[in-house]
Amino acid sequence: MLFKELADKNRSHREFVSGAKIPEELLIEWIANANHSPAAMNLQALKYKIITDTDEVARLLPLTRWAASLEKKLPPENHGPAAFIVMCHDTSIAPLKPIFMIDVGIAAQTIMLSAAEAGFGGCIIGSASEQVLKDTLSLDDNLTPVLVLGLGVPEDEVVLTVAKDGVKYYRDENNVHYVPKRPLDEVIIK
Ligand SMILES: Cc1cc2nc3c(=O)[nH]c(=O)nc-3n(C[C@H](O)[C@H](O)[C@H](O)COP(=O)(O)O)c2cc1C
Repeated sequence: MLFKELADKNRSHREFVSGAKIPEELLIEWIANANHSPAAMNLQALKYKIITDTDEVARLLPLTRWAASLEKKLPPENHGPAAFIVMCHDTSIAPLKPIFMIDVGIAAQTIMLSAAEAGFGGCIIGSASEQVLKDTLSLDDNLTPVLVLGLGVPEDEVVLTVAKDGVKYYRDENNVHYVPKRPLDEVIIK
């Protein structure tokens, strides 16, 4: 797949094929790709908690908020993600947070692109309580959850559009999810 195709395919998905699984080896492969990403001062202060057990995924799901600005409850009942990767900042490696937040984004996108290339997909979730996640997952004191990736086999249709009247994503009556992106002449500084 050309990178342009992969970048376009790599949308945020919030509805998944019921009962579909992601083999743990694949999740580990995607984390290995993220682990080869650039890292501020090459400190590599990110750690990854993989959750694939159905009950554990179900326990985590209500701790995450998906498309809060849409009326429809997402993911719909029984169409949740097959797995979560909870990205954590290891404060014993890098005590100061701000610069490592950039690493988090780079690593998250590397995982999402890896997933999309393999025919999977999901959503980066920032709306999850750090402390609740930490307690629920019984994480060591030095590990602070910073981002959650919900992953599965997508079944929602997501379409890129050129932003004309704002950048808010929306769904039509057929449940097609539209994502307006700003036109290039608006984002390239002349
Ligand atoms: C740092 C970050 C945090 C995000 N947090 C959430 C979230 O909590 N819930 C959610 O449904 N989507 C979340 N998203 C997904 C965005 O809503 C999504 O990227 C945006 O709507 C554009 O859609 P696209 O990813 O298909 O381009 C997040 C994305 C990023 C990069």
